[in-house]
Amino acid sequence: MEENMERENIILKLEEKLESVTTKNDIAQVKAYFLGYDGVVTKMSMKMKEIPNEEKPRFGKLLNEIKNEVVARLDKITLEMEEKELNEKLEKDSIDITLPGRKIKRGSLHPMTRIEEEFEDLFVSMGYQVYTGPEIESDENCFQKLNIPKSHPARDAQDTFYLKDEFEKFLLRSQTSTAQARAMEENKEKGPIRIVCPGKVYRRDEDATHSHQFMQIEGLVIDEGVSMADLKGTLELFCKHILGEKTKVRFRPSFFPFTEPSVEVDVTCFKCGGSGCSLCKNTGWIEVLGAGMVHPNVLEMGGYDSKKYQGFAFGTGMDRFAMFKYNIPDIRTIYGNDIKFLEQFDRKDVD
Ligand code: PHE
Repeated sequence: MEENMERENIILKLEEKLESVTTKNDIAQVKAYFLGYDGVVTKMSMKMKEIPNEEKPRFGKLLNEIKNEVVARLDKITLEMEEKELNEKLEKDSIDITLPGRKIKRGSLHPMTRIEEEFEDLFVSMGYQVYTGPEIESDENCFQKLNIPKSHPARDAQDTFYLKDEFEKFLLRSQTSTAQARAMEENKEKGPIRIVCPGKVYRRDEDATHSHQFMQIEGLVIDEGVSMADLKGTLELFCKHILGEKTKVRFRPSFFPFTEPSVEVDVTCFKCGGSGCSLCKNTGWIEVLGAGMVHPNVLEMGGYDSKKYQGFAFGTGMDRFAMFKYNIPDIRTIYGNDIKFLEQFDRKDVD
């Protein structure tokens, strides 16, 4: 009876102590209070020796029950505390799924790639093939086979970068007209050719409208019975397609060593439409292409019979078209890789 009282008291005391615990450390202290070296329950078990033998099993059982109950209650409160801590942490760290996600930056085609594809699409639709050649070229393909022998003054306007030592025969091509020499040589049957060759070219230039590296596109058509009328029709169609149907096109006599006759092609100013402005220097016209009938010497050097075959060729700077089309004042920005510049060309954030 007396022992039962003791048991009740212990449990009451335990409940009282547990009411004020807030941390795991508090629990540890409560545990020590009951089960520690000097603990209430430990002390009670000391009494075992004073108990008469026949009472010992009962007393032992009671002791165990008390111990178990204390342990169970401590475990329970520990578990509750851990659960509470976890819930608080989850609440604090919770993810707000209603927040908008981070926007993904999406790139877009470089203005030069767009222009190049636009040009290619047009010419492919007219039956041309896209032909590419190397940027490191021989002097022969860049000049000699285009009727520009060594020390010809026409080289001055196309001074470029030359390789050194054992590669001194090579240079960075100054014009995509190199494609003329290559395409004719590669065409073993010496039959018709219809190609456009887009690509990078190099010159010793550098200012707002000239870059040491820029992009040209070359066109070459070789066949029987090709005339200046074909050249004019093709280039007129080309200019109107790229710059708009209202564009007027005019042909001026000019000189290129590899074409005869040669022309320069002007279009009505994209900005003022021909009335005169700062862009066209008040002339109403802007020069966009060099062209002409392939010189018989060039045909012969390419292995073609110039009595049987004729051809026309044209070349233009794609950067100039990009500058006009996208209103880019400085050519150097095209090659600067500045994201702020490039972002203007249809670079959109995905929502
Ligand atoms: N290659 C010439 C240039 O770079 C342009 C051109 C090409 C002229 C084809 C005539 C025929 O200036």
